[in-house]
Amino acid sequence: MPEIASRAHLTAIGPVVQRALTEAELSPGEVDAVAVTSAPGLVGALLVGVSYAKGLAFATGKPVVPVHHMEGHLFAASLEHRDAIPPFTALLVSGGHTLLLDVEAWGAYRLLGGTRDDAAGEAFDKVGKLMGLPYPGGPHVERLAARGDPTRARFTRPMLRAGSRLGDDDYFDVSFSGLKTAVFYAVRDAPASGLSPADIARGFQDALIHTLVEKTRRAVDAYRRSRVVLGGGVACNSALVDAMRARLSPQDVAVFSPSPRLATDNAAMIARAGLFHLMRGNTAGLALNAFASLPIPGVLAA
Ligand code: KG4
Ligand code: ZN
Repeated sequence: MPEIASRAHLTAIGPVVQRALTEAELSPGEVDAVAVTSAPGLVGALLVGVSYAKGLAFATGKPVVPVHHMEGHLFAASLEHRDAIPPFTALLVSGGHTLLLDVEAWGAYRLLGGTRDDAAGEAFDKVGKLMGLPYPGGPHVERLAARGDPTRARFTRPMLRAGSRLGDDDYFDVSFSGLKTAVFYAVRDAPASGLSPADIARGFQDALIHTLVEKTRRAVDAYRRSRVVLGGGVACNSALVDAMRARLSPQDVAVFSPSPRLATDNAAMIARAGLFHLMRGNTAGLALNAFASLPIPGVLAA
């Protein structure tokens, strides 16, 4: 409900900023700059943040720094792990996006692949919904899957075609809508097949994770990286993080994942990406606008 989301932003933003400053024991005049998410997302909600940031910046004489939401997710792990720095392979898995990137340096991103339909978090949420779990479904599906038998419900691993090679257009991409449909039929037929909700959740999660891990491994190998950085709400999923480590640690690749409060949407990651852009002089004027969709700044030609 975009209109309700914008109104909720409007009532929350003042108290949230006030509380952040109080907890940090800072006055608005003591901050260096105001970083704000200007894209992508629901434009009404983004506009509330952008307008508030411009007002705060104008009132305090500070620069305003626009930040791309997904670039924020890219920086989240570096707030906790000093080695989560470029070069690395990044897998960003949120409710709205699934992006596989090669990060040569901060601000120099190669977009390798993405989803052709549902984002990873969206797939979790839709599966949660059709299993009657509360929204957002991700954490509930993970909890249910932990009790499931991995050998009972086997779903085809999406987008892992045998013989796929670097250069093929499906080599790095993912797709989850077929998997979601397979789960729909498994749930519908459960009374006859005897599959439990936990077994179905486990089968779904294993298939989705297997695809994400293999695509990430391909990107690591293609660019010979020794680090993987995860971000976005689905990076809270410990089965995903464990599977990524199990697959990549034998080849000496370190996997960094932010703790849940930094993996899901948060302001600290926007501030960190904002600091990077502030140091580069990428500030905006009071004409700054919000955009529903926009590529991450700094994307290099493939
Ligand atoms: O990054 P995020 O907080 O918001 C967006 O930018 O979309 O991601 C939210 C998504 C939701 O789809 C939610 O179900 C998913 O992250 N999520 C999880 C888990 N925790 C959150 N998915 C799977 N397992 C989890 N433990
Ligand atoms: Zn997000």
